[in-house]
Amino acid sequence: MDEFNVNEEEIQEQQTRFICTANHGFAPFAQEELRRLFGSVKSTVLVSGEVFLVSVAYTWNEVAAMIAKQPPIFVRHIQPVDIEISAEELSSGLNELKLYVLDKKELQGATVSLQVRKSEQSLSEVSAGALREQILVELQDLQAEFIVQNADWILSVFVSSDHIYAGVSLPQDNLSDWSGGAVRFQREEGQISRAKFKLLEAEKSFGIDFTAFRHALDIGAAPGGWTSFLLQRGIHVTAVDPAKMHESLVGHPQLKIMRKNASGVRFRDNQFDLLVCDMSWSPKQMVKLVKDLLYCLSPGGTAIVTVKLMHKKPMALIKEVIASLEEDQMQLQYAKQLFHNRDEITLHMIKY
Ligand SMILES: C[S@@+](CC[C@H](N)C(=O)[O-])C[C@H]1O[C@@H](n2cnc3c(N)ncnc32)[C@H](O)[C@@H]1O
Repeated sequence: MDEFNVNEEEIQEQQTRFICTANHGFAPFAQEELRRLFGSVKSTVLVSGEVFLVSVAYTWNEVAAMIAKQPPIFVRHIQPVDIEISAEELSSGLNELKLYVLDKKELQGATVSLQVRKSEQSLSEVSAGALREQILVELQDLQAEFIVQNADWILSVFVSSDHIYAGVSLPQDNLSDWSGGAVRFQREEGQISRAKFKLLEAEKSFGIDFTAFRHALDIGAAPGGWTSFLLQRGIHVTAVDPAKMHESLVGHPQLKIMRKNASGVRFRDNQFDLLVCDMSWSPKQMVKLVKDLLYCLSPGGTAIVTVKLMHKKPMALIKEVIASLEEDQMQLQYAKQLFHNRDEITLHMIKY
């Protein structure tokens, strides 16, 4: 075939489909990000406000590379759709899925993570976990080792009410190697707050080595989930909050508690190499407060800040917040809505 002579139908065939996931209610913003990245994007909802199937005129490798180059804020996870099986019953669909998987040369002899999700109205009535077990039985003839994490390949399967969507990808191409980007942490005995999960997730998602920091300032610290995380990483912490810190932290030898409003505290220049802020406050006031404290963050220091999206236009708000912090020697590394962020996003910035 003359490659310069492709007709419109063939161009249609070059479309790549993939499934995108955002935090609940944030799918419209994820779709907007994809439109900005890929131009025209066709999309079909799989789970309202959360999961959608998109089609773009790029190859999967191009999609993965473009997304890696400009990481989106609200797209939490992507998975390729190599095969779309239309099925009236699960059993016939699984049969076809099996043929597709057994034919995948790259999976032979490799380690594979099978990630299975489903929509509420689905061909399967059992839980996604039970469905995964069922699929594993179907795939027992595949010469591959199924493991949960750090696999060579991810085999993603999504089961809707009338289709099974499946694809194989490298873990780094999915934006998150967790199924649907849902990063789960074990709740610890005596854990102070769920907020701690946000910092744990930021550590993984942004690849931050927290053990490298020595002195952290935690503003809006109570009840102390973030503070306890930082102490566990061996950091000396100054926790500022008018509210009470959890009693288990009081008296910790590496912790200084200041029960004050963050607008009324003073520190030495460059006193900290890490500043974290998880204040439940309007973003504008939060930004002013953080900016007023940046003198005490040393050059090269890191800031992790949650931004509440109280606004109707989150994209514009985020842009404004980042621009304002960038006026003060802060350079953005990542802006991301983490799985553990509710109506907020997390910024990772470095002072230069
Ligand atoms: C979501 S909580 C923080 C949770 C904390 N990161 C944790 O892991 O436990 C928000 C905190 O911000 C504090 N806060 C709000 N405005 C503040 C201010 N101006 N100065 C200091 N703390 C403030 C509140 O008192 C509240 O304890």
